[in-house]
Amino acid sequence: MGRAFVYVILGGGVAAGYAALEFSKRGISHGELCIISEEPVVPYERPALSKGFLLPEGIFISNWNMKNALKSARGISRNEKGDVKLPSGLIAPARLPSFHTCVGANEERLTPRWYRDNGIELVLGTRVKSVDVRRQTLLTATGETISYKILIIATGARALKLEEFGVSGSDAKNVCYLRDLADATRLVDVMQSCVGGNAVVIGGGYIGMECAASLVINKINVTMVFPEAHCIHGYWVGGIPKAEGIQGFDYSPQSTVHSPRLWTGIYSVMSRERNASGTVARLFTPKIATFYEDYYNSKGVKFIKGTVLSSFENDSNGKVTTVILRDGTRLPTDMVVVGIGIRPNTSLFEGQLTLEKGGIKVNGHMQTSNSSVYAVGDVASFPVKLFGETRRLEHVDSSRKTARHAVTAIMAPDKTGDFDYLPFFYSRVFTLSWQFYGDNVGEAILYGDFSGGTFGAYWVSKGQLVGSFLEGGTKEEYEAIAKVTKLRPVVENTGELERQGLGFALSL
Ligand code: FDA
Ligand code: NAD
Repeated sequence: MGRAFVYVILGGGVAAGYAALEFSKRGISHGELCIISEEPVVPYERPALSKGFLLPEGIFISNWNMKNALKSARGISRNEKGDVKLPSGLIAPARLPSFHTCVGANEERLTPRWYRDNGIELVLGTRVKSVDVRRQTLLTATGETISYKILIIATGARALKLEEFGVSGSDAKNVCYLRDLADATRLVDVMQSCVGGNAVVIGGGYIGMECAASLVINKINVTMVFPEAHCIHGYWVGGIPKAEGIQGFDYSPQSTVHSPRLWTGIYSVMSRERNASGTVARLFTPKIATFYEDYYNSKGVKFIKGTVLSSFENDSNGKVTTVILRDGTRLPTDMVVVGIGIRPNTSLFEGQLTLEKGGIKVNGHMQTSNSSVYAVGDVASFPVKLFGETRRLEHVDSSRKTARHAVTAIMAPDKTGDFDYLPFFYSRVFTLSWQFYGDNVGEAILYGDFSGGTFGAYWVSKGQLVGSFLEGGTKEEYEAIAKVTKLRPVVENTGELERQGLGFALSL
C-alpha cells in the first residue's frame, strides 16, 4: 500500500516550484498535491548556481549590471531572514533559502514552510525509479508506491559526463560538474582550495562561460577548451555534425576513429538545436562571440579552441594535475570544470510516452501522449506557435512558463488556449549582460558598438524578423526587442535594418 494524490509533480526543480505556485493560486485542497524530488531541498532558482552562488565572500560590487545580476539571484547581502547583513557595497554569495522559487520572476519565495502552510506534500531526497503510466503509479527508490490522477513530469536534465565521450576521470576529487546544489557546493569547496591557482574549463557553452567568469572573480587563472571555433557558437551543417577546425577529430557517425558512444554523446548535445533545414546553429555569431572572448581575454582567460580533452594525469591523492588535449597540449591544473551539455531525464517514460527531439512530446496544453500525464521544463518538447514547430528548450523562462501553463490547462482546460511562447534566454557574466528573444535562424544583422557599448543582432528569415539579441540594454530596450520579435515584422531592406539598429525596435 502507498499514498494517493490527485496531483503529483515528479522532479523538484524550477518547473516544479512554478507549478506549485500556480496550483496554490488556482486553489487546491490540502493533501491534493505531492512533489517528489531526488534533491533534498525544495525547488530553487537553478540559474543562481552559476552566478551569485559562486561569488567569493564579501566582494565589493560597484557596477550596476553586476548589482542587478546579484539582486535577481537574491544573493545580495542578506541573512537567513532576508535582512541586509553586510556593509553597503559588500555582497555575500547567494545561499538558500534566499533563492528558492519563485523569486526569479519576482513572485513569492516558496520556502519549506510555504509548502507546509499550503498543505503540499514533499517527498524529498527520493528518487523515483519507475513509473507505470497505465496504472498511474510511481515507485520510489525507498520502495513506496505513489499513485496519482494527474502527473506532471518535471525531471529536467542531467549533465553529460566525460565518460560518455570516451574519456575517463570524472570521479577525480577536483573535477567538477554543475547541475544541482550538491555540485555547486562541491565546486565552491574546490574553488576555495585553488585560489591563486589554475583551472581548466572543458566546454564553451553556457556553463563553461559562466563558470569561467566566476573562477576569475575567485582569483583563479582559467584556460577554456572547446571543439568549436568560438564560444556558444559551433554549428554543424547538412545533418551530420562536424566539429569545426578539429584535425583528425571526426564527429560523424561514419567515423571509425571514435566509438559510436562518443559520437552519440556529441550528437545528442547538438541535435536539440537542429533547425528545420537541418542546420545546427548556436546563438553567438563569430562577431558576437569574439566580443565576449576578447572581454574574457582582458580578464586573463585563455582559449584553446578546435580540440578536446583526451585524458587526465592524476596524483596519488586522486586529483587531476594535468589535462592532456587531443592535439597533445598538456595543461597543468589545480581543478577542472566540465560543462559539455545535458541529456533530458526521459528514461522513466521511454516506451510509455511519445518522445520527440530528445524530450517528451506534449501538445499546446503540455499534455503528453497519455492524457493523465503532462510534461514541462527542460524535459518537454512543445509546439512553439511562433515557429510552427516543436522545440525543446533548456532555459529557465520556458521552464517557468510551461509549468504554469500546464497547471492552468489542468485546472481550467476549457478556458485555456494553446501555449503561445516567445522563446527568451539570457546570461550575465562579469559586468556584461545579454538577452535573446525568438529564433536564431536566417541571416544575422549586427548593429551597435562592439567596442564595449551596447550592441545587438536581429535574425531575418524568409523576409521576416524572427530573433533579437542585445548586450548591455536597459529594461525598456529589452522590452522593445521582445516586442519587435513577437511582431515578426517584414524586413525589406536588411541594410536599413542594420543602419537603424536598436532604433528599429524602439520605434515600434
Ligand atoms: P530542473 O533540472 O531544474 O529540475 C529537475 C528536478 O527533477 C531536479 O530536482 C531533479 O533532482 C529531479 N529529478 C530528476 N529525475 C528524478 C527522479 N527520477 N526522481 C526524483 N526526482 C528526479 N537558464 C537560463 O535561461 N538562464 C540562466 O542564466 C541559466 N543558468 C543556469 C545555471 C545552471 C548552473 C544550470 C544547471 C542551468 C541554468 N539554466 C539557465 C537552465 C535552467 O536552470 C533550466 O532550464 C531549468 O532549471 C529547467 O527546469 P526543470 O524544472 O525542467 O529542471
Ligand atoms: P551547452 O550545450 O550550452 O554547451 C556544451 C558545450 O560543450 C559546447 O558548446 C561545446 O563547446 C562543448 N563540448 C561538447 N563536447 C565537448 C568535448 N568533448 N570537449 C570539450 N568541449 C565539448 O551545455 P552546458 O554549457 O553544459 O550547459 C548545460 C545546460 O545548462 C544547458 O541546458 C544550458 O542551456 C543550461 N544553462 C543555461 C544558462 C543560460 O541560459 N544562461 C546558463 C548555464 C546553464
